[in-house]
Amino acid sequence: MQHIFHLGRETKLCLTEILTFYPEAKDLGGFALVKNADPKILKRLGGTIKISEVKQELPASLPVNFTELIFNELKKNIPNSGKFQYGLSIHPSRTGLLKKILKELKPKLKQEKISSRYLNQDGKNLSSIQSANCTELNLIFTNEKTYLSHTVATQNIAAYSKRDYERPARDDMSGMLPPKLAQIMINLAQPEELVYDPFCGSGTILQEALLMGFQAKGSDLSEKAISDSQKNLKWIGKECPLEIKDATEIDSYPKNCTIVAESYLGPPQKGFPTPEEAKAALAKLEPLYLDFLKTPIPSGTKVVLALPFFNLQNNPIFLENFIEKAKELGYSVPAEEAPLTYARKKQVIGRMIISLRKK
Ligand SMILES: C[S@@+](CC[C@H](N)C(=O)[O-])C[C@H]1O[C@@H](n2cnc3c(N)ncnc32)[C@H](O)[C@@H]1O
Repeated sequence: MQHIFHLGRETKLCLTEILTFYPEAKDLGGFALVKNADPKILKRLGGTIKISEVKQELPASLPVNFTELIFNELKKNIPNSGKFQYGLSIHPSRTGLLKKILKELKPKLKQEKISSRYLNQDGKNLSSIQSANCTELNLIFTNEKTYLSHTVATQNIAAYSKRDYERPARDDMSGMLPPKLAQIMINLAQPEELVYDPFCGSGTILQEALLMGFQAKGSDLSEKAISDSQKNLKWIGKECPLEIKDATEIDSYPKNCTIVAESYLGPPQKGFPTPEEAKAALAKLEPLYLDFLKTPIPSGTKVVLALPFFNLQNNPIFLENFIEKAKELGYSVPAEEAPLTYARKKQVIGRMIISLRKK
């Protein structure tokens, strides 16, 4: 059986997360095709919006009556009683085709005496909430193949949003990591047992690590951050060791720990700086990151860090030669490729995610 993982906005980062679980996953551009996946894994993935099961895989060049294809698949999902709610999503989105298929499906379903209603509005693909509440079929067009798939798992947006926005202690000034990104970073690190966050802030990484079943430990320079983490962890019914500590002065690490952290991203920005200003701001922050990497992190320890980059249009500015500098400090870099990034459109400071391992 094959599944399609529908990736979040940062497709490269989301695909990398999937590859840590399924190294054979095939990149379909915004989607990943995975053999023998368990859709229950969706709960563990921050970067996958939904998982659908492949029902048909057709050569892209084959002329297909999509209405007939979809009608036949829908018919397999008619409930014994009540109205049949369904929906269709097409990728890349094609409003005209979507409207045409939905229009043609109506009389066909009626003819079969199936009381039904589709949830698509104005030729738009379904939202995540709609996907979760009906039988959703997806038509996915790639250069080589066309896939018809049935959504079998959708991300619980409400739960993420609750963990993000309803936590009792929030610190908008120093920034909080979205829980999804915390989950992605933890998955990239593949911890054995304990996740240590030495820049824990209000505790998003600790929270997600504990919810994923790992042990956790946090420290931060700021007393307020430690108290915020404590409150937020209590709110989800969890706790872990927390201490006030300068990350550049850590002299010993917990046994078998994996380090996952979002370091200080610098002061909030009022607007977009010039490239020179951005470079200067990053150069000012760099010693903090390098001094932290100089602490006696035990050999073999994996370190996944979120560090800032300036999200200047067409010219993102990164810390200069950071990977080379980390290598000089005794780290290896598993993936030698362009940095994985996470930034909203028009967000001045984005996050670059780097994975290191102490040699
Ligand atoms: C961007 S915040 C981390 C936010 C956190 N990931 C969260 O979601 O709440 C960076 C944190 O690094 C802390 N920090 C800055 N310099 C530090 C240092 N030298 N040692 C330890 N923590 C430091 C700040 O107090 C701040 O809480």
